[in-house]
Amino acid sequence: MSKLFSKIKIKDMEARNRIVMPPMCMYSSDDGGFPNSWHLIHYATRAIGGAGLIIMEATAVEKRGRISARDLGIWDDSHVEGLAEIVAEVKKHGASIGIQLAHAGRKCGAPGEDLIAPSPIAFDETYGVPREMTKEDIKEVVSAFKAGAYRALKAGFDIIEIHAAHGYLINEFLSPLTNKRTDEYGGNIENRARFLKEVIKAVREVWPEEKPLMVRVSAEEYAEGGNHDADVAQIINLVKEEGVDVIDVSSGAVVPAKINAYPGYQVRFAETIKKMTGLFVIAGGLVTAPEMAEEILQNDRADMVYLGRELLRNPYWPLAAAKELGDDIKWPEQYERSRK
Ligand SMILES: Cc1cc2nc3c(=O)[nH]c(=O)nc-3n(C[C@H](O)[C@H](O)[C@H](O)COP(=O)(O)O)c2cc1C
Repeated sequence: MSKLFSKIKIKDMEARNRIVMPPMCMYSSDDGGFPNSWHLIHYATRAIGGAGLIIMEATAVEKRGRISARDLGIWDDSHVEGLAEIVAEVKKHGASIGIQLAHAGRKCGAPGEDLIAPSPIAFDETYGVPREMTKEDIKEVVSAFKAGAYRALKAGFDIIEIHAAHGYLINEFLSPLTNKRTDEYGGNIENRARFLKEVIKAVREVWPEEKPLMVRVSAEEYAEGGNHDADVAQIINLVKEEGVDVIDVSSGAVVPAKINAYPGYQVRFAETIKKMTGLFVIAGGLVTAPEMAEEILQNDRADMVYLGRELLRNPYWPLAAAKELGDDIKWPEQYERSRK
């Protein structure tokens, strides 16, 4: 049995293999943030295709925290029912399922919303200048993450991922490039990590101890004066005691900077974070070959591997990968005759 197709247990979540579908915005909701048949079919198909863990796309904890007007939302109790339907369907087909709780901050692209950020600096000329958050705003957003986590629990998710990557609100606090505050939320690394720490703590008040909690990070900002992998590992070490189990390692999008992307370009960041924090780590970025995913795991560079665009292209990638690695996995019974 390959490592890619070996099970993994993290707290009470047991994934059938180490293949992760990372969060990917579908921009297919309505202005109310409700899921529809697109989301149900899209996620259930990846479960039928054999993914081990599916992380639902960035889902806004506040209306003003949306990346676009078509994002999914979890800011209201009425969102739970539709999300629960997707969770049940995905689990029926053997995959574990998580949700990415998100707040876009200064990168909110939904028209007419209040743009908020740690400091009043626009991402680029296509975005407006955000309003510097008051302590009251900070409390409000922390509570919104907590309420979102409670709804995620009600919907039946196995794991929550807090979106602290890609230059969205939490990441804006973490980065010295976007956080110029002079109060206890800015300045040194401990202060910049404070908002994330408060979010994790609040989420953990409602998200049970036995359920795993994950944080997605941009481990490299590709800009002078920005965070690098060792800085991000240090941040994680400052907050992990609040109850973090897994780090999903991504990079970039904090400031407009060029990224030299090639297969596996983020894996070394995952490796650093795994070594420095001792937590479970998910690595990925332009991974498409089963042998490459297997190499990452066999060399202990990460514990799971994500494939984003590859799983958009081919939801049945896991079934084909098992064949390539010589693993005899369970196929959907309905497709047995195509297996050979
Ligand atoms: C259509 C699309 C939407 C995405 N939306 C999100 C998102 O909601 N949250 C997030 O953290 N990353 C998002 N990403 C980034 C992916 O999760 C992933 O990290 C990235 O695509 C690199 O992996 P890949 O090379 O295997 O595609 C998105 C990527 C794509 C292609």
